[in-house]
Amino acid sequence: MSPRHGFTTRSVHAGEAPDPTTGAHGVPIYQNATYAFHTYEQLEAARSGLAPHFFYARDGNPTVRCLEVKLADLEGAQAAVATATGMAAVSATLLHLLVGGGHLVASADVYAVTRAFLRDDLPCHGAAVTLVDVSDLAAVEEAITPATRAIYCEAFSNPALRVADLGALASLARRRNVKLVVDNTFLSPALCRPLEHGADVVIHSATKYLSGHGQILGGVVCGSRDIVAPIARTVSRLGGAMSAFAAWTLLAGVKTLPLRLREHSANAARLASLLADDPAVAAVHYPGLPTHPGHEVAKRLVGKGERFGGMLAFALRDPASVGPFLNALRLPTLAVSLGECGTLIWPVEGSDLIRLSVGIEDIADLEADFRQALAVLQPAVAAD
Ligand SMILES: Cc1ncc(COP(=O)(O)O)c(C=O)c1O
Repeated sequence: MSPRHGFTTRSVHAGEAPDPTTGAHGVPIYQNATYAFHTYEQLEAARSGLAPHFFYARDGNPTVRCLEVKLADLEGAQAAVATATGMAAVSATLLHLLVGGGHLVASADVYAVTRAFLRDDLPCHGAAVTLVDVSDLAAVEEAITPATRAIYCEAFSNPALRVADLGALASLARRRNVKLVVDNTFLSPALCRPLEHGADVVIHSATKYLSGHGQILGGVVCGSRDIVAPIARTVSRLGGAMSAFAAWTLLAGVKTLPLRLREHSANAARLASLLADDPAVAAVHYPGLPTHPGHEVAKRLVGKGERFGGMLAFALRDPASVGPFLNALRLPTLAVSLGECGTLIWPVEGSDLIRLSVGIEDIADLEADFRQALAVLQPAVAAD
């Protein structure tokens, strides 16, 4: 769509048009494995690229294609490839960039399964990985070697909500001739578009905010045609294609992405303040709080809307109170994952952090629930 259209208009309309054969309004699910050719000549024209045509659903499906067009539009990218899960997007991208070896500089605070992939899997494919605190630009620069091919980070990190200075990292990446790859799952393109800050590749777990309703797994990689085309080949060879059903569900979810992110952000800001003011809480990590060390950088990432997303993490003063607190909450669901309409809460394994994916419920209900659950802890705090 035209970049003159607003983000919400593009969330609704980009990649969509009435079905050319039936007029169906809304992209149908093309739930089939293969695609027919009328003639040998049509097949030859498709093979030579003269007349585009779908061949086989692992390499392309009309429903998935519409979603890819929509997501590329929203991230401001030339191209996108949708994948079966977020991890398929992460692994295919890094396996492509590090084919035959090389070196990756990656943020030390990333989603646990991504970290396991960096630690356990990439080295098996001959690639070396150095983990750094990406907020320390000197450390990132020092970690870059002649073999380095890319810098990898999450814009707002999972689970500690560290903030990556994408503009500064992109300048450094350009100067050292390496790619900057950004996982934008926590913010979504409604709040931050890493390519506008100079990143080369953007990844999402579409399972989260892009879906918004927790019904499917999915991922996406966005970037220039030159970068996305070989990653799409890797996705196909690894068997990581997105299903038509997941794409169809996502096409619906993405239409309300900016509306949902407005509510998630407003609710998270209120809960972050409530938690920060409570004596039972030792620390709150929310980049929207002026006390957050990445607040100024975060403001640059999210722009003038000043919405900082729905994710926060916090720690209770008394680790023994985590169980009673979680059990006292009524509205949030004790479940892993994030980005759904309903609030999800999760104690991070091996850490004192509790990760909170703030939903779009009425804020008065969320505040009342958190207040009553924190009140359960008051005697323990008072007795300290
Ligand atoms: C930041 C981030 N990236 C990637 C992933 C992996 O996505 P998926 O679970 O869809 O494979 C997750 C999952 O939680 C995530 O939080």
